[in-house]
Amino acid sequence: MSEATVADLGPLHDYVEYDHASDNFLADVLEGLRKPQKELPSKYFYDERGSQLFDRICELPEYYPTRTEMALLRHISADVAELVGDGATVIEFGSGSSTKIRILLDALDAPRAYVPVDISREHLLASAKELADDYPDLQVIPVCADYTQPFDVPVIEGEKVRAGFFPGSTIGNFSRDAAVSFLRAAASDVGHNNGLLIGVDLKKDVDILHAAYNDAAGVTAAFNLNLLERINRELDGTFDTGAFTHDARWVPDPGRIEMHLVSERDQTAEVGGESFSFAAGESIYTEDSHKYDIAGFQALAAEAGWRAIEHWTDPDELFSIHLLRVV
Ligand code: AVJ
Repeated sequence: MSEATVADLGPLHDYVEYDHASDNFLADVLEGLRKPQKELPSKYFYDERGSQLFDRICELPEYYPTRTEMALLRHISADVAELVGDGATVIEFGSGSSTKIRILLDALDAPRAYVPVDISREHLLASAKELADDYPDLQVIPVCADYTQPFDVPVIEGEKVRAGFFPGSTIGNFSRDAAVSFLRAAASDVGHNNGLLIGVDLKKDVDILHAAYNDAAGVTAAFNLNLLERINRELDGTFDTGAFTHDARWVPDPGRIEMHLVSERDQTAEVGGESFSFAAGESIYTEDSHKYDIAGFQALAAEAGWRAIEHWTDPDELFSIHLLRVV
């Protein structure tokens, strides 16, 4: 367990920061680019520009996950509230802009506390403060941490039940093994008999998937290329970003969209004093977005110590939300 520091922050009751909440962007980039199949971790998409581009992706006509999940969550929120029970502490893994949590908080019966866990400190604190202002009866305790690493959930006085919340099909970014590890850690974070509400994108017609990740307006391409621009900005990289092309492909086994940046010609780029060469057609692998069917996801969750309590899908069966309980 890493050291945590606690500070007092005005409208927020407490704030906890872990020392593992610092990424090593340079080291991770160098490690990824040295591999035979060059790769970059998708978690680095979300700098300020990347987060803006992601918000635009969520508004695209082709990108169904966000609006489908929001509508589904609204539709099922009363059922979820019933199953979770009153006086809950809600722990959100990777809270981002915290819009979906409002749907859940509005439906829950007298929620006690909200613990958003996110690595991006400024984003975390800004949205936590807004939420604390809008929900005066709720204790809001942000935890600045990498949510895939162990952290202690603050002990809340009068807490009756804990519920984890992991929307957006972010679980899809993890390899199957990493998804099991994350779910195991989440089970220990919420504890015996407590729940997890998790959004999981479903397997579907390849044309729908392909369009969602290769949108006509090119926003997903800009989002992908921003990773190279970020390396240029922050690490003095020398990528010719105009000489790489966005490519998102469906890989049927195990069932995922892979995003790549494909070099249009033979070229080299320098990062941190190291030179990397790219052959024409060679790619940098930047993101996995795994899709699951209901039974496949339940099996994965079972491996990590979770029992399926209930699941819901939209009428077009594009997206699923599962309620799990720790065995
Ligand atoms: C935020 C991981 C759910 O995989 O659909 C959107 C990220 N990448 N378009 C996804 C993403 C390209 C998104 N997740």
